[in-house]
Amino acid sequence: MSEPRNLQEALADELSEEELQQVGTSFDIVGDIAVIKLADSLLEKKEKIGKALMEVHGHLSTVLMQTSPVKGEYRTRDLEVIAGKEKTETTHKEHGCSFKVDLSKVYFSPRLAHERFRIAQQVESGEVVTNMFAGVGCYSILMARHADPEKVYSIDKNSDAVEYMRDNIRINKVSDVVIPIEGDARNVIEEHLQEKSDRILMPLPEFARDFFDAALQSLKPKGGIIHFYDYGEEPQLFQPSFNFVQNNSSSREVDLLEKRVVRSYGPNLYHVVLDLDLGPK
Ligand SMILES: C[S@@+](CC[C@H](N)C(=O)[O-])C[C@H]1O[C@@H](n2cnc3c(N)ncnc32)[C@H](O)[C@@H]1O
Repeated sequence: MSEPRNLQEALADELSEEELQQVGTSFDIVGDIAVIKLADSLLEKKEKIGKALMEVHGHLSTVLMQTSPVKGEYRTRDLEVIAGKEKTETTHKEHGCSFKVDLSKVYFSPRLAHERFRIAQQVESGEVVTNMFAGVGCYSILMARHADPEKVYSIDKNSDAVEYMRDNIRINKVSDVVIPIEGDARNVIEEHLQEKSDRILMPLPEFARDFFDAALQSLKPKGGIIHFYDYGEEPQLFQPSFNFVQNNSSSREVDLLEKRVVRSYGPNLYHVVLDLDLGPK
């Protein structure tokens, strides 16, 4: 019998039309691991769904089911193996870079690939960049590989993420540019990175507003760019984020360079980004 071409075909005898549609959009592929979210009504069919995913995507070694939301300060999630090898570590390729990750210990989403590359393309030669919430180093490494920054200070509080970041810096041969720093972004900036940065990334929408003052502290006096990630709700997708920034950067001239939706989180909720140029007043 020939291999099924897609998940719908592989599960045609097991699931209803409606169930097939749900499954079709509910997974990510990270390296050789698929991560799937299943509705409660599908839990009793999880092994069949896992096996079907492996049949359709022949390079997969493992299928994990996400059993909790992304949660806590480190933005991790609970996972259960539903097919293939018992493992949670893999290496994901993105825009010519390799990222080693343990999905049970660190945050990683392949859905941010476009946004990461978009930011990397904006970096100008000789810039000093601070990535306040760097995870396993994806944004920082892409910048070092696709642009020519002088330094990218890459901070994360999760020691597992920093361990993988160190590996990824070595694997991608960017150790002269990307500097991994374990710690709380606010403390690290206060102690080492005040008035040092031309560009600052804040890729943690849950806490970006709480850390905006620290980001301002890290900007060079002549000013620079802040990529401010936040949540936005229809109908006013960007205005509350922009109002927040304007109300909290009184010593700076704020210019909005670009605003965009990064991804959708629900019927009316979006992950948004504002690219801001903050100059002296
Ligand atoms: C949404 S993840 C972003 C990961 C990364 N930028 C990427 O694209 O994969 C946010 C990261 O911020 C880290 N984090 C949370 N609070 C922090 C803090 N106060 N200081 C530094 N890092 C923090 C978490 O451990 C997590 O790795």
